[in-house]
Amino acid sequence: MLVRVYYALTSRKCRRAVLPVYPCRILCLLLACPAVFLAWQLWPAAFPLQDADVREYAGVASRVSQEWRPGSSRARAHHLVESLRSRPQLSKLTSKKEEEISSTTRKIPASSNSAKNLRKLASPGSVAPMAREQQPAPSKPALSAKLHPAHGRLIREYPFQPVRNERGEFVNVILVRSPFRSRHQKELFDQYKQELLFLGISSFEDYPQPPPNPFSGKFPKDEYVGLFPGFLHMLREPAKIFPETVKLVLMSQSDFSLPPPQPKMATKYDFTFSGSDQDVHNDCVGWSSYAKNWTFVKTALEVMCGELGMTGVLVATKDKQGRRACSIPPSCKGKILQTKFLAQNEFFDYVRQSKFLFVPQVHDASPRVTTQALALDVPLLMNWNLIGGWKYLNDKTGEFFHDIGDFRDSVKRLLRKVEEDEYSPRKWVTTNYGDQVSGTRLRQFVEENFADRVKLPEGTRLLFPSGA
Ligand SMILES: *[C@@H]1O[C@H](CO)[C@@H](O)[C@H](O)[C@H]1NC(C)=O
Repeated sequence: MLVRVYYALTSRKCRRAVLPVYPCRILCLLLACPAVFLAWQLWPAAFPLQDADVREYAGVASRVSQEWRPGSSRARAHHLVESLRSRPQLSKLTSKKEEEISSTTRKIPASSNSAKNLRKLASPGSVAPMAREQQPAPSKPALSAKLHPAHGRLIREYPFQPVRNERGEFVNVILVRSPFRSRHQKELFDQYKQELLFLGISSFEDYPQPPPNPFSGKFPKDEYVGLFPGFLHMLREPAKIFPETVKLVLMSQSDFSLPPPQPKMATKYDFTFSGSDQDVHNDCVGWSSYAKNWTFVKTALEVMCGELGMTGVLVATKDKQGRRACSIPPSCKGKILQTKFLAQNEFFDYVRQSKFLFVPQVHDASPRVTTQALALDVPLLMNWNLIGGWKYLNDKTGEFFHDIGDFRDSVKRLLRKVEEDEYSPRKWVTTNYGDQVSGTRLRQFVEENFADRVKLPEGTRLLFPSGA
């Protein structure tokens, strides 16, 4: 039967009928299918390889490369892959689009994974998930430092962030850094939550609290705050948010990976602002602009350019072609440099040439640019309302402002203290944060609270959130 179908399809008659009509489409299809399949399989899986790339973006605290512009074919391919893998881009879309995508996410991986699951089930060493769900809570097997067999599969999903020790080894701790973006991800968590130690980490918007960003997906207030036995949080008053049972540590991704000391550069600008990936095509109205509080930036610019005659750099407020830029007050003409999204080193160079980094955002979880600037010995002008990252600010590292009411005073105080050399940002941040200090702290937190849940590889001294 199959043989006959094959012959019928490859017969000269059939070929003649089909080929002249769609030779191009057939070729394209033949080329595109394996390419998309390969991208889907390899791209998000290569976590260790991605570390370096991702750190490039960290400079502007962006989770999104601006090469992925809607409309370009790369963007479409990317969105296809994203929707399959449900990576963070989703949050950039409007909620309507997000619904569309999450419904595809639900359908596609469910079916495409089922084949993989079957294969997994057949392979030795894996445990049938169905069987486990039906069992009552199993009596605990002896803990092993050996990496859980499901680890690789889990960390391919965006919310699951791996943890490594100082030797670069993965450990059986998984950080959950964002809301689940598909039912599949929630199911994975439910399936493995007894065997791996899942801890929450705030690194995405207001998570574990629902985001006020109008461009973000919403979830119930109590959905994530009590879901994990421990949480790496960023809040001033965590007791108001988390149930008592959750073990807490004030710790963020931005506590780690500080840049090394760099030679001084001549001061050229008063300030730098990192817009990460602003919604330039929409005059800075969108997810990223909300996260960076762009509306306040414009108000503050009136004061800084207009009243105080200051100069500055607004990073990633211009499109990649360098043509369109987010609009700024006319008084800033000739005083403000707007740049496209920059590689980390270029961004660092602007920061090093500035008197301070301007951090006006509120709903942006502990932006990495804050500790990066401090490590480059540049103080911060920070919005007091920033949900995470406020802990880096003190009289050695910069000034707070609350709103436009006390903004002028804060700017003036900061400029005076810079002039009189009263800050010591690098000294303070490297004494209190960085891989050694925070890596030890994370290892202690895990050991002191979860010794019954996880065994770390022999000799582990430090733990790092990895691949972010
Ligand atoms: C921007 O900052 C101002 C001043 O702190 C604050 O009142 C406002 O709510 C912030 N807006 C956003 C979107 O974060």
